[in-house]
Amino acid sequence: MADNDKLLDHAYDGIQEFDNPLPTWWKWIFYATILVVPIYYWDPMGIGVGPGKEKAYKQQMAAFNAAHPKTAGAYTDDQIAAFAGDPAKVEAGKAVYTRHCVACHRPDGGGQIGPNLTDDFWIHGGRPTEIMKTVVEGVLAKGMPPWGKMLKSDEVEGVVGYVQTLHGTNPANPKAPEGAKYPADSAAAPAATPQTKGM
Ligand code: HEC
Repeated sequence: MADNDKLLDHAYDGIQEFDNPLPTWWKWIFYATILVVPIYYWDPMGIGVGPGKEKAYKQQMAAFNAAHPKTAGAYTDDQIAAFAGDPAKVEAGKAVYTRHCVACHRPDGGGQIGPNLTDDFWIHGGRPTEIMKTVVEGVLAKGMPPWGKMLKSDEVEGVVGYVQTLHGTNPANPKAPEGAKYPADSAAAPAATPQTKGM
């Protein structure tokens, strides 16, 4: 308490207080923050809130969506089947598979947490468009991530091409078959894999 401390007149419940102003350095920091306001007021892209920020966000989202497939519907069965016959795609797809898929599907595709990808049986269908759909959209509730959100279109194409090349490779100790056979055995079980229309 300095000598020039001034005791204010009022008293609350018998408690009196001094008139201590805020320190000068504190006030200057406060004024400095006010000086920054015009920057936000002009709403440049990338800073602050408002249409500028929104525009920057929309541009980034558009670029992301252009690079990442949201739905698998852009492909036909024949196109996807052809990825498996394209050595460059399969090579790139194998790298993607090694990085992102082996933990659950095993390096040889025999299955572990995820199902066996080498046998004739598919939980979500073995048609090329169905495999593509499972990879792009995932089955989050069962632990299969939606890769369309994480991989670029050409990476998805490659890895789906590579997965198709795993079919029939008969790795050791495979996970037991799950799901329905594709293609279905005979006319006796025609609806084993539902057609996916308008995907
Ligand atoms: C975190 C574990 C995990 C990772 C990583 C993972 N998967 Fe899966 N995957 C699963 C599970 C679990 C299923 C089974 C989903 C179900 O039971 O519905 C599955 C199912 C699939 C299916 C459908 C199989 C069927 O029988 O219909 C394909 C195809 C597939 N995954 C491909 C991939 C590819 C390609 C990658 C890498 C880009 C990948 N998975 C990465 C866990 C994983």
